[in-house]
Amino acid sequence: MKRQYLVAGNWKMNGSLKANAELLAGIAAKREEVSAVELLVCPPAIYLDSVGKALPEAVRLGAQNLCEQTKAGAFTGELLGGMLTELGCRYVLVGHSERRSLYGESDERVAEKYKAAQAQELIPVLCIGETLAEREAGTTEAVLSRQLKAVLDLCGIESFAKAVIAYEPVWAIGTGKTATPAQAQEAHAFIRGLLAGQSATIAGSTRLLYGGSVKPDNANELFACEDIDGGLIGGASLKASDFIGIALAAQALSAV
Ligand code: PGA
Repeated sequence: MKRQYLVAGNWKMNGSLKANAELLAGIAAKREEVSAVELLVCPPAIYLDSVGKALPEAVRLGAQNLCEQTKAGAFTGELLGGMLTELGCRYVLVGHSERRSLYGESDERVAEKYKAAQAQELIPVLCIGETLAEREAGTTEAVLSRQLKAVLDLCGIESFAKAVIAYEPVWAIGTGKTATPAQAQEAHAFIRGLLAGQSATIAGSTRLLYGGSVKPDNANELFACEDIDGGLIGGASLKASDFIGIALAAQALSAV
């Protein structure tokens, strides 16, 4: 049996009260058709409260980022994990490539955030992935190992019993270029192998999402891969029909 599919929408810095309401209504209207799939939406933090209150039945709420601190204090502009939990978040993205590249989050900082998330009852969605230059230089596996090792060193393999990993090749994010199913599966198998090196049980149950230009028309071939357990969706998560279209691919595979 494959792990339950998770289709997660990363809204990034998009949305408005009106657009969010429309998007949620569109998801609510089709939720039952994708009942086998776990759905997650990650709006900008300013909307977590309103989105949380209008969340369709059985759709989870997640944040896009959190502070590495675990206690309230003088950290201007930051968000404590406990505040996210209080608003109903179950998940939080950690180490998205835009956070790493645009906001300077190091592997170590990402690992601290992952740890802080778990300490505050949040399930981290740990994002890892190589840039185009790294892929072309043949260092994809070294990059994935390094990014994962920072978390394994700080939190241990057991922590992955309550975490999700998203493989997001940076060159495929928002570019319309998707990794081929073979490229994605190869990276996913490599990541699962790294976990299996420490615990076969945990490696077998950890969900690995693929992210990078997932659309309704390529979701099926990606999700059909053995080690791909769903997707982290950016652009296509902003349109209910696309987001649901992607979830339908997972639903169809769930019935297999
Ligand atoms: P994309 O973004 O689907 O727009 O490529 C994916 C992501 O960054 O999570």
